[in-house]
Amino acid sequence: MLILGIESSCDETAASVVSDCREIRSSVISTQIEEHKKYGGVVPEIASRRHCENILGVTRKALDEAGVTLADLDGVAVTYAPGLIGALLVGVNFAKGLAMASGKPLIPVHHIAGHIATNYLSHADLEPPYLCLVASGGHSHIIEVLSYTQFRVVGRTRDDAAGECFDKCARAMGFPYPGGVHVDKAAQSGDPDAFKLPRPTVAGNEFDFSFSGLKTSVINMLHNAEQKGTDIDRNDLSASIQSTISGILTDHTMRAAEALGYKKIALAGGVSANSGVRAAMSAACQERGYEFFMPEKSLCGDNGAMIACQGSYNFLAGIRADESLNAIATLSMDDI
Ligand code: KG4
Ligand code: ZN
Repeated sequence: MLILGIESSCDETAASVVSDCREIRSSVISTQIEEHKKYGGVVPEIASRRHCENILGVTRKALDEAGVTLADLDGVAVTYAPGLIGALLVGVNFAKGLAMASGKPLIPVHHIAGHIATNYLSHADLEPPYLCLVASGGHSHIIEVLSYTQFRVVGRTRDDAAGECFDKCARAMGFPYPGGVHVDKAAQSGDPDAFKLPRPTVAGNEFDFSFSGLKTSVINMLHNAEQKGTDIDRNDLSASIQSTISGILTDHTMRAAEALGYKKIALAGGVSANSGVRAAMSAACQERGYEFFMPEKSLCGDNGAMIACQGSYNFLAGIRADESLNAIATLSMDDI
């Protein structure tokens, strides 16, 4: 089985061919980060225009590198939700055109389900059910993966996502966009106990997250220091931020695992590249005797292989879209 996956939900135009669900035959990513860096974040209209310019070339390259043509494919999978609406529309419309021209089925994929699927590409033995922490720039979810295509969200952020919190703290410290990776680097030479930062709990659901208080506290700390003319060690602050975010994500996931009886835990999303989050989740699972799975670092960020992999499982489950498929900016995993 050969599935082409297309991803354009944010600032990466990506396409990949995956065979038999888990074997990556090609994976091409065209990132727009350098362009959005100038503005300190993703500019939606620029993102859409770049997707429009790049999507054909990226897809052609993915097919060429896999050594296949459209005729060899079993289906065309595409991210249709959630994400920047203009960016998603480029991928959805392009995939529709490909499906129509080739006569192949069109397979809709939820972006977060794609992130979860990076674990199948990294671990040949992983099968549902398990509990997955998905932390990215736009989402922080604890999800029951009931089967390859059925999900239940048990915890979510009430305000900022973990990646957003990393990026906003990074910006306040003067690091370029996207800042998460710079905080990670600076944290390597800092003291995680140097600053005590808030770890709020959320009323009503002990698995939910809230990261806006942490962000505000970091911004206030930096403002106060600036006004007083004192200096804050960026390495120490980065290490403290990273340790606090890793601690919150891990504690809530372990709480959910215990309450719901999961002994198999996975991690996914852009923030799963963070060394502190990887170490904290891995240590907590080891302590409790849980099996732990995380994606290879190269698969943590947005890519086409995750859409092709999840698209393969959707295909096997009979999930298809017709020509009326539309892009959706906000769509809970509970509603797919
Ligand atoms: O999954 P992703 O590529 O895009 C979304 O679907 O949102 O996640 C991007 C997020 C950004 O916030 C980025 O700063 C964060 O993942 N990120 C990291 C690291 N690498 C990427 N955050 C902390 N440490 C990292 N090493
Ligand atoms: Zn993503």
